[in-house]
Amino acid sequence: MSNRIAVVGTGYVGLTTGACLAHLGHRVVCVDVDEVKIAQICDGIMPISEDRLPELVAEGRGAGRLSFTSDVVEGVTGAEFVLLCVPTPQAPDGSADLGYIESAARSIGPHLRADAVVINKSTVPVGSTRVVADALGRDDVQVVSNPEFLREGHAVSDFLNPERVVVGADSEEIGLRVAALHLRLTAPLLVTDPASAELIKYASNSFLALKLSYVNAVAAVAEAVDADIDDVVKGLGLDGRIGAKFLQPGPGWGGSCLPKDTSALVRIAEDAGYDFALLKQAVEVNTDQFRRVVDKATEVIGGPVAGRRIAVWGLTFKAHTDDLRDSPAVEIARRLVDAGAHVVAYDPEVDKDTPIAAGIEVVDDPYACCEGAAALVVLTEWPQFGRLDLDRVADALEAPRIVDTRNVVDRSALERRGFIYRGIGRT
Ligand SMILES: NC(=O)c1ccc[n+]([C@@H]2O[C@H](COP(=O)([O-])OP(=O)(O)OC[C@H]3O[C@@H](n4cnc5c(N)ncnc54)[C@H](O)[C@@H]3O)[C@@H](O)[C@H]2O)c1
Repeated sequence: MSNRIAVVGTGYVGLTTGACLAHLGHRVVCVDVDEVKIAQICDGIMPISEDRLPELVAEGRGAGRLSFTSDVVEGVTGAEFVLLCVPTPQAPDGSADLGYIESAARSIGPHLRADAVVINKSTVPVGSTRVVADALGRDDVQVVSNPEFLREGHAVSDFLNPERVVVGADSEEIGLRVAALHLRLTAPLLVTDPASAELIKYASNSFLALKLSYVNAVAAVAEAVDADIDDVVKGLGLDGRIGAKFLQPGPGWGGSCLPKDTSALVRIAEDAGYDFALLKQAVEVNTDQFRRVVDKATEVIGGPVAGRRIAVWGLTFKAHTDDLRDSPAVEIARRLVDAGAHVVAYDPEVDKDTPIAAGIEVVDDPYACCEGAAALVVLTEWPQFGRLDLDRVADALEAPRIVDTRNVVDRSALERRGFIYRGIGRT
């Protein structure tokens, strides 16, 4: 069945959701307050880099099922379902800032048709369906929670092949209507109450953060006891109760979701009278991981990084995305700058004119990046970093020294070429 849907907020989640729902046959209008973004999308320029997204947007627009506007009234008028996909950044006290959600809800409230269903896809604290309902100021409109679990870099395929669809609604009938929007997807469906749906999202992201902090802690032990982290992780992951995913050691976790969502869950728990010490510790382990990477750079150089040029490969928070928000790579580059280094960075998705932070220069060639640098620090797991010419890298560097925080470059090839090497979880 085809429904009229408005998507409010056309970012990573909103644009993907709009394009995919149009692909599933719905009539979708994507709304955003960012007029430049909307104009660019209408010109065929995608604001984010995601596989299949340009094709799905073109398909939807060509079929007359997908349109874009910066006029919120035009966007939501007549829509049966309105999806909120606006940011929920971290507030200074660690909680989720609901300012964008409330402002979006206030702006659409007067223009919704009676019996419209507002679906909150933004990640929000328990109780936010009530906050949205209050901001809408409408008794004839239902609000449900439908958390989104897509991964950047795989956004379209995750949306179209979800591992689960979670809907939190006060009434089962509304929950099933929202679930029906996803009918063409073959995924387990969980219809529950709003509080449980909201908690599922935070509990999922926080669990992923715990898993990554855990494996980074195990990697630190592996380094100390001369164990091989690759084999340790393989052995761990083969246990079906643990699973192999999200078990790669690295420079620390980050991105636009895990840091703010773990912090928000700590606050939600605190407000409810529970001290989530386990999660707080995972955050501390993560912050310490950034320090450990800077220490490794000092180790390979054999002295402080102050006054030295350091080459950095990778700035995005993970491979296959252009997202720099809360990137651990940027955090570590910043720490190197704070320690007095001049950082020169290369990332296949980051243009050389992109401002990153004071003291971080971006170049558009991986070898030029290494020119005269005291060491190379690999921070994002772009697969092409494992295929680059190590002779050229060694010749460009002041001396062949590398810290590979993603274990993406072939260690034995590096050692054959005489590199001083530090990985994560490897002696
Ligand atoms: N990025 C992810 O991987 C991901 C995954 C799952 C859930 N989420 C959650 O989804 C939400 C959105 O995240 P995102 O990464 O898509 O954010 P984003 O910053 O990429 O996009 C948000 C968009 O909302 C627009 N916007 C802000 N206020 C608006 C308003 N009042 N009306 C219309 N548009 C408005 C902004 O201009 C922006 O384009 C967040 O709560 C996030 O936690 C994100």
